[in-house]
Parts: sequence; C-alpha cells; structure tokens
Amino acid sequence: MRASALLVALTAWMAVTPMAVGVQLNTRISDPTVDPFYQGPSGFESKPPGTILRQRQINASFFGFIPNPVEAWQLLFRTTAINGSAIAGVTTVFKPAFPQKDRFVSFQTAYDSSSPTCDPSYTYQLGSPQTDLISSLEALILQVYLLKGYIVASTDYEGPDAAFSPGRLEGVGVLDGMRAVSNFYETLGFSTDQPDIVGVGYSGGAIATGWAASLHPTYAPELSIKGWVHGGTPSNLTGTMSHIDNTICSGFIPAAIDGLAKPSAYGAELHAFIDEVFTDEGKSILDYAGSHCAVITLFNFMDKSILSTDIQSLGSDFLYNPGVAAVLAKNIMGVNKTETPTAPAYVYHAANDEIIPYSNATETVKAWCENGANVKFTNFAAGGHVTTEIIAVPSAVEQVDNFFAGNLTTGCTSDEVLSDSLDPLALGLNLEPILAELLTALGNIGDNDSNLKSNASILKDIIS
Ligand SMILES: *[C@@H]1O[C@H](CO)[C@@H](O)[C@H](O)[C@H]1NC(C)=O
Ligand SMILES: *[C@@H]1O[C@H](CO)[C@@H](O)[C@H](O)[C@H]1NC(C)=O
Ligand SMILES: *[C@@H]1O[C@H](CO)[C@@H](O)[C@H](O)[C@H]1NC(C)=O
Ligand SMILES: *[C@@H]1O[C@H](CO)[C@@H](O)[C@H](O)[C@H]1NC(C)=O
Ligand SMILES: *[C@@H]1O[C@H](CO)[C@@H](O)[C@H](O)[C@H]1NC(C)=O
Ligand SMILES: *[C@@H]1O[C@H](CO)[C@@H](O)[C@H](O)[C@H]1NC(C)=O
Ligand SMILES: *[C@@H]1O[C@H](CO)[C@@H](O)[C@H](O)[C@H]1NC(C)=O
Ligand SMILES: *[C@@H]1O[C@H](CO)[C@@H](O)[C@H](O)[C@H]1NC(C)=O
Repeated sequence: MRASALLVALTAWMAVTPMAVGVQLNTRISDPTVDPFYQGPSGFESKPPGTILRQRQINASFFGFIPNPVEAWQLLFRTTAINGSAIAGVTTVFKPAFPQKDRFVSFQTAYDSSSPTCDPSYTYQLGSPQTDLISSLEALILQVYLLKGYIVASTDYEGPDAAFSPGRLEGVGVLDGMRAVSNFYETLGFSTDQPDIVGVGYSGGAIATGWAASLHPTYAPELSIKGWVHGGTPSNLTGTMSHIDNTICSGFIPAAIDGLAKPSAYGAELHAFIDEVFTDEGKSILDYAGSHCAVITLFNFMDKSILSTDIQSLGSDFLYNPGVAAVLAKNIMGVNKTETPTAPAYVYHAANDEIIPYSNATETVKAWCENGANVKFTNFAAGGHVTTEIIAVPSAVEQVDNFFAGNLTTGCTSDEVLSDSLDPLALGLNLEPILAELLTALGNIGDNDSNLKSNASILKDIIS
C-alpha cells in the first residue's frame, strides 16, 4: 500500500490537524486475550442483549501505524452464544468530523480468523500489529463511508472466542452491536436513540451481514434497519468448503472448523468429535488456524485437503458425517422462511468466484425472493472473488445511500455488470484518492484474481 500518499490525501480532506507520522505508538494497547476491557464485568449476564458494559475512547489508525484522525470509541456489550448463554462482544465506532446524526453504517469486516488476536477492535488501534491483506483493503472501504459523512460501527461479530463462520452467532453479534451503538446515541451526538442503519459486508463479512439480515425480524425487530448490502456471500458452508478444498484458499477450512468448535458456537456438538477423528497433524492444523490470522493461515494450509486421512480419519466422508452435517445445515441461509430478511437487500457476486460458490448465493437469493424479500442482485460477470470486492465498491456505496434515502425497487430484480475495472471518479472527486488506492490493489490482484491464483506470494507483497 502506498500508505504515506494515502495519509496525505486523507488528512487533507478531513480538514483536521494531521498528527505527525512516526508519532510514538501507544504501547499500552494489549492483545484481546489479555486486555481486561474484553471481559464482561460481574453480573453482566443478567443485562439485556446490547447493553453497554464498558466503553473507552481509542486512537484509531490505518494499518496500525498511521493515525486516523477521527474520534473512535469501543463498546463492550452483552450478546448471546449459540447455546443461549450470555457472552460479551466489542464494537468499534468511528465518528467523522461532520457526521449525519440520525444514521450509521454497520461495517462487517472479513477478518476470517479464529484467533482473538485478529479481532478488528484490536487491528483498528494505533500500535497494533497488522496481520492481513483483507483488513488492510477493507480499512480503505470503511474509510469511504466515513468520508461520506456516515458514522461507522465495526463489530467483532465472531464474539469473545473468535468463532469464525457460525453465521447465527455472528448475526446475533452484529445485531447486538447495533443495539449497543444505538444505546450510545448521546455520546455520538445522534439526534435519536433509534438511528437508521444499513449493514454491509463482503465474503466473511457477508456471513455476518447475511445472518444479521436473516435474524433481524425475530431477534432484534426494534432496530431501524433500512437495508443490507453484501457480496461474495458464503451462504452455504458445505458448498464453500467443498469448493475451496485443495486450493490456495483451503486454509479457510481449518479456520472455519476451529471456529465452529468454539465454546460460544458448537463446541458441545463438535469438540469430542474432533478429538476423536482428527489426527495429530489435523489437530495441529486446527490449533494453528486458531492462533493465527487469515493470510498466514492460508499459507499454512495452501493446496491441502481437509478430506485427507492424514488430517482426519473419515477422509472424504468428513463433511457428510451426521454430526458435522447437522452443524453445517444450521448455517445455510435461506432455508427457514421465518428467517427471511424484511429490510431490502442488495446482494452481489461474481459468477466466476473461485472462493465462494455463486450458485449457493443465488440459491439463497431465490429462496428469500420466494418468501417475499426485496432483493436486488448483481452478477459481476468479469471478476474473481477479490477483484469483485473492489469493482463493486461504487455500486455498494450507492445502494447504501439509496437504502438510507428509501429509494427502493420493490420485489426482486437482477442485473449484470460486465466491466472489470473501477472508475476512480465513480464516487466523486473527494473519494478519488481512496478509489485510486483500490485501483492499485486491483492491478496487483490481476484480472479475475489471476495473480492470486497463479502466484500466491503476491499476497505477501500486498500486505507489506
Ligand atoms: C492516543 O495517543 C496519544 C499520543 O500517543 C496518547 O497520549 C493517548 O493516551 C492515546 N489515547 C488513548 C485513548 O489511547
Ligand atoms: C449446500 O451445498 C451442498 C453441497 O456443497 C449441497 O449439497 C446442498 O444442497 C446445499 N444446500 C442448499 C440448501 O442449498
Ligand atoms: C453449492 O456449491 C457447491 C460447490 O460449488 C455445489 O456443489 C452445490 O451444487 C451448490 N449448491 C447449490 C444448491 O447450488
Ligand atoms: C454455552 O456457551 C458458553 C458461552 O460460550 C460456554 O462457556 C459453555 O461452555 C457452553 N455450554 C455448553 C454446555 O457447551
Ligand atoms: C425458523 O426460524 C425461527 C426464527 O429464528 C425459529 O424460531 C424456528 O425454530 C426455525 N425453524 C426451524 C425448523 O429451524
Ligand atoms: C474472467 O473469466 C471468465 C471465465 O473464465 C472469462 O469469460 C472472462 O473473459 C475473464 N475476464 C478477464 C478480464 O480475463
Ligand atoms: C434511486 O436509485 C436508482 C437506482 O440505483 C438511481 O438510478 C437513482 O438516481 C436514485 N434516485 C435518487 C433520487 O437517488
Ligand atoms: C511471484 O510474485 C513474486 C513477487 O511479486 C515475483 O518475484 C515472482 O517472480 C512471481 N513468480 C511468478 C512465477 O510469477
């Protein structure tokens, strides 16, 4: 990333005094596993979901070392584990200098890891070690919303255990994070305690967003949600796992299995089973995934197969073992009619997505539409998974604006985008420097993700 050019551009627009680069980093920040802020205070279990349990101001940053001159807070809030018990989650709220006062964007970043060290609440702080390409890229997209004048909240939706992939846990975490931000309305200067909200997320962030959309009508119907925007959506974990096994992205599979088996997720269902069928090598791969961030985990299990008997004794039957299949089946979006989103959704996906199967996402959209949802769907026909996240930024941002404005098409519509490029002026002159950065990233990734596919070491270049 051309980080210094970015800093100059950002501070210029935000019309605030730029802090010097190379400021002394705040060495007091600590990893979520040892930072007492993350622990629910005694008695928190009896508070209603979304109650703020602790709050603090933080120094927000780009990439951990460039100060982001916006005000930012973190809220510890009460949320709920899969088994119904109380757990504590954290959300980070960013407030630009001249915000709109009756609304915020809930930005689900794709941290895709089962290690609490990779929690976005940690990554966003000045002085935190940076861990992966995904959050660096997405920090730019989050910044687009801030520069448009939206307050943005970004929740550690995987909860206290960093449970990557259990959609129901993540969706509930997102909704309780939204409640916490609404409860923080006085400090944020909102004109209302019922601010309007649009939820956005891509890839791993779309698991959380799609499930929040699904659970909103029953779990948190009081929230004033105006729409959902998600793309590259892993709506069927079985489909995703079989699609990426033995590819450069197979490392997401051990991260997901480790995530599903966390105590706050499906530990009760999976823990003993994993102990029994995983080999020592398999267990060490799960442990690695549970203690490293996404990109490093991908390198560790690149081009390997979870279905190998070197990893677990069931071999190719693994995903269809009744215990595993039962957990995976609970995490398919669109199968339960009561869990159809009531707020409108914009869903987008690359037909050539090499990581998240297109047909699984369109299957969910079809089910939602049959059950009365309003969904606009776009096929980004010329992109791969990562390139589409970038190419689609202007469309996603425009939809967020449309949802807040109540500018909707009702029912279901779909269209296709054939372009594989990004117009750096698509969102106006103000946002041109950020879109130019994204365009550079697009060039590094290559058409249809070709550089990622042919030469995974490009990842190392992009993150350094
Ligand atoms: C933010 O950084 C400044 C300068 O390094 C430091 O004095 C201050 O304590 C930090 N604030 C927080 C909330 O960490
Ligand atoms: C989920 O994906 C699996 C295969 O990967 C498929 O067999 C199953 O039908 C899909 N489920 C739904 C509800 O789409
Ligand atoms: C989901 O994706 C998998 C992997 O590509 C595919 O085998 C399966 O048919 C898809 N399921 C549906 C219902 O589209
Ligand atoms: C229920 O969830 C809590 C919170 O994550 C966990 O500590 C506990 O072990 C779980 N209980 C069972 C029986 O799995
Ligand atoms: C469908 O979803 C609703 C709301 O989450 C839930 O109460 C119900 O048990 C679900 N039905 C099935 C068959 O899982
Ligand atoms: C991306 O891949 C698709 C299918 O393989 C192909 O039709 C399309 O031309 C490719 N686009 C580019 C820019 O290479
Ligand atoms: C409403 O949305 C449509 C489709 O995205 C767009 O073309 C139109 O300009 C929008 N209208 C307003 C008033 O924003
Ligand atoms: C892979 O990328 C690295 C770093 O960009 C470069 O040095 C190397 O030549 C590339 N290898 C291939 C086979 O393209």
